[in-house]
Amino acid sequence: MQLIDGKAIADQIKREIAEEVEQIKAAGGKIPHLAAVLVGHDGGSETYVAHKVKACEQCGFRSTLVRFESDVTEAELLRKVDELNNDADIDGFIVQLPLPKHISEQKVIEAIDYRKDVDGFHPINVGRMSIGLPCFVSATPAGIMELLKRYDIETRGKHCVVLGRSNIVGKPVATLMMQKANPGDATVTVCHSRSSNLKEMCLQADIIIAALGVPEFLKGDMVKEGVVVVDVGTTRVPSDKTKSGFKLTGDVKFDEVAPKCSYITPVPGGVGPMTIVSLMKNTLLAGKKAIYR
Ligand code: GUN
Repeated sequence: MQLIDGKAIADQIKREIAEEVEQIKAAGGKIPHLAAVLVGHDGGSETYVAHKVKACEQCGFRSTLVRFESDVTEAELLRKVDELNNDADIDGFIVQLPLPKHISEQKVIEAIDYRKDVDGFHPINVGRMSIGLPCFVSATPAGIMELLKRYDIETRGKHCVVLGRSNIVGKPVATLMMQKANPGDATVTVCHSRSSNLKEMCLQADIIIAALGVPEFLKGDMVKEGVVVVDVGTTRVPSDKTKSGFKLTGDVKFDEVAPKCSYITPVPGGVGPMTIVSLMKNTLLAGKKAIYR
């Protein structure tokens, strides 16, 4: 069993990005600038956004954090989106999800200029990705593909089972895994909360991407020997063993599943760091106007 070290790969990519930013600076070019909009004080969102801001520093980017209290109106938030769309210094921005219930996430996502949508959530980017055109690919799926590539894991002709059908992970990663590309070229099955034969599907899988958000869902008796497992779960489970009072828990029962795997990502230190770094890559592309003019 080989552990996939997402943290090490992410650190390597951040160094690669920082070098490129140095070259851009030396040539008198524009330093990439990412803005992040955070609404409310959800613990998970606070942590993710703090990690994104820190990663910007490590890459040599500029970053701006825009905060709103959770009672911000949808109209106020949409005004800020419009302002960021029209701010020439901002190359890309994200609105951290989830948003409070009184705000339509879809409305906000669609209000973002797709040329600044470094999260890759706008329907134009999602649509372009699904037909294989240049676009901002959302960060978690892009990070997973990068891990498979850097570890030289064969995906062509393999049976890949994706657990979960979210717009952020399940659907896009299934699309990328079936795309005519490397990594890609896999036969993909998407299972979800209404699937009746989920265990049978998992037992047939060469690659399992677990993105259900159910802690320790995938058990040892659900996988075959030699499987590659990518664990996207990041549920904060209460714990008295940590200073923060919770433990980040994946969708895979690691102790049971890992011994049967050829490769597996840990939680934390697997997909998580790659998600952040993929956002940095998109920000660099936005800064260089490499995808859209
Ligand atoms: N919430 C969970 N993941 C993400 C992400 O990748 N981007 C944003 N904006 N919000 C999220």
